[in-house]
Amino acid sequence: MDKRELIQKINRLKKEKNAIVLAHTYQNLEIDEVADFSGDSLYLSRQAASTDADIIVFAGVYFMAETAKILSPDKTVLLPNLSAGCAMADKINTEQLRAFKNQYPDIPVVCYVNSTAAVKAESDICCTSANAVNVVKSLKAKEVLFVPDQHLGAYVESQLEGVNVITYPGYCPVHHAITVEDIENKKALYPQAKVMVHPECPAEVAKKADFVGSTTAIIKAVKQCEAKEFIIVTEKGVVERLERDCPEKKFVLINEKAICDTMKLLRLEDILFSLENNTYAIDVDKETAAKALKSIDRMIAINA
Ligand code: 13P
Ligand code: SF4
Repeated sequence: MDKRELIQKINRLKKEKNAIVLAHTYQNLEIDEVADFSGDSLYLSRQAASTDADIIVFAGVYFMAETAKILSPDKTVLLPNLSAGCAMADKINTEQLRAFKNQYPDIPVVCYVNSTAAVKAESDICCTSANAVNVVKSLKAKEVLFVPDQHLGAYVESQLEGVNVITYPGYCPVHHAITVEDIENKKALYPQAKVMVHPECPAEVAKKADFVGSTTAIIKAVKQCEAKEFIIVTEKGVVERLERDCPEKKFVLINEKAICDTMKLLRLEDILFSLENNTYAIDVDKETAAKALKSIDRMIAINA
């Protein structure tokens, strides 16, 4: 089947089944051609919470589909490939979270959305890269525990006066591997380029940035900026979308390894298969979902 035919079939099935496709910014670019909404984690969770579709096909990784299911328990949420996990979410389980909380009792726990439903259920509030600073600020606490991303936690602390952010030692391997040397090498080649960094990168990398933000925030900032060259310090999907949307500008990916393999598992054929066969329906047990929903709802209520 050629690409046009595939897209037509998917669109027809979406209509017949009252389904929508949500695609994360790191997804293979072709998925955007059938996506109803594409963007960062905060944007996608808002769409999952507000849609009246019967089926949500999540073109992302497992924790995103799980979050959509928690927000929309009566809908069918499909993840087209069950191997699409997140190495950061896998860095902390509930036992490890409990041990961390025992080490620092009576301190509120902020949990990055890149975590399992069970970890969200045992946290006080969720955040995404787009709203982490505002979420922590909203707690008006002098100390917070932040799981699982040490780098996002450190970035939040750098943006707030008088808040001690105690971080769990988790990280995203794609962003953790990016170094200051990578930035210097690219800056030597493109001295005029603006450096756009995702806050999952190590603090010393974020310090070199002209702009730090979520995937959607980076894309928006590039579009509003008059500069012509940009070094993109996050996953390759952001570069691909920017090249598509801003062909008059030059984008340089920080290094060739900045690719999230599990995000790249999906092709249009998988979306079609998923819609045809209702695969793979994601479920979250009721008790965990109810507790996790409180953390996610608190985040959404902050509206920032
Ligand atoms: P955002 O798109 O929310 O910035 O998240 C980045 C990421 O790593 C998602 O897994
Ligand atoms: Fe997880 Fe990192 Fe991939 Fe995002 S880029 S899904 S944090 S492994």
